[in-house]
Amino acid sequence: MYLLKYFDIMALRWLRVKFFIDTANVEQIREAKDWGILDGVTTNPTLVAKEECDFGSVAKEILSLVDGPVSLEAVSTDAEGMVKEARELSKMGDNVVVKIPMTPDGIRAVKQLSSEGVKTNVTLIFSANQALIAAKAGATYVSPFLGRLDDQGWDGLMLVEDIMEVYRNYGFETEVIAASIRHPIHVIECAKMGCHIATVPYGVLKKMFKHTLTDKGVRAFLKDWEKVQEKCKKK
Ligand code: E4P
Repeated sequence: MYLLKYFDIMALRWLRVKFFIDTANVEQIREAKDWGILDGVTTNPTLVAKEECDFGSVAKEILSLVDGPVSLEAVSTDAEGMVKEARELSKMGDNVVVKIPMTPDGIRAVKQLSSEGVKTNVTLIFSANQALIAAKAGATYVSPFLGRLDDQGWDGLMLVEDIMEVYRNYGFETEVIAASIRHPIHVIECAKMGCHIATVPYGVLKKMFKHTLTDKGVRAFLKDWEKVQEKCKKK
């Protein structure tokens, strides 16, 4: 019994929740990196469209700024095109992960790329079956989109729970990135399920730091510290 507990604890020591930032904005990435808690970055064409037009140089800057994995999305729709694009993107750095959409062509591409050692993130996952197929094809990561499911009246968190259960049953190495995160509760609920990674927008990351009682407490301590200074000056 105790031995089992010891091994459980030792195994858990290797597990740690990872935070990625879901943005293509270099300033936001730099700030999150400065906090010392950033493990990686995810981008997509919509996020890139909000930034400078020169995607190549933006991507290079992000890749050099971040030590961990950076997901860059392939935009071809056929398997051959995706493979070609992925090979090119992966030349940009050792930390490149190529985002591939969850389509039959995408899965063919993932199968090929995983045999070549190119890391992939299968994106636009909305069902556990899709996540199962992606893992069987050898995806490095899958990205279930919680928020977009919630927006349509489904339960995004339940999807993450289902995927985690299926992956645990078979010991898949594919890591689950909780994506399309809308608020801090999404993040904590995913962590409670043992989800490997949350890719969090900058605004939600900032909210995760905040608590009104923390702010109130800091203000009160500073005020009391001033009183200590005053009192000691008088003596
Ligand atoms: C994930 O990798 C995607 O970039 C992202 O989380 C999508 O989020 P959205 O639904 O807010 O666009």
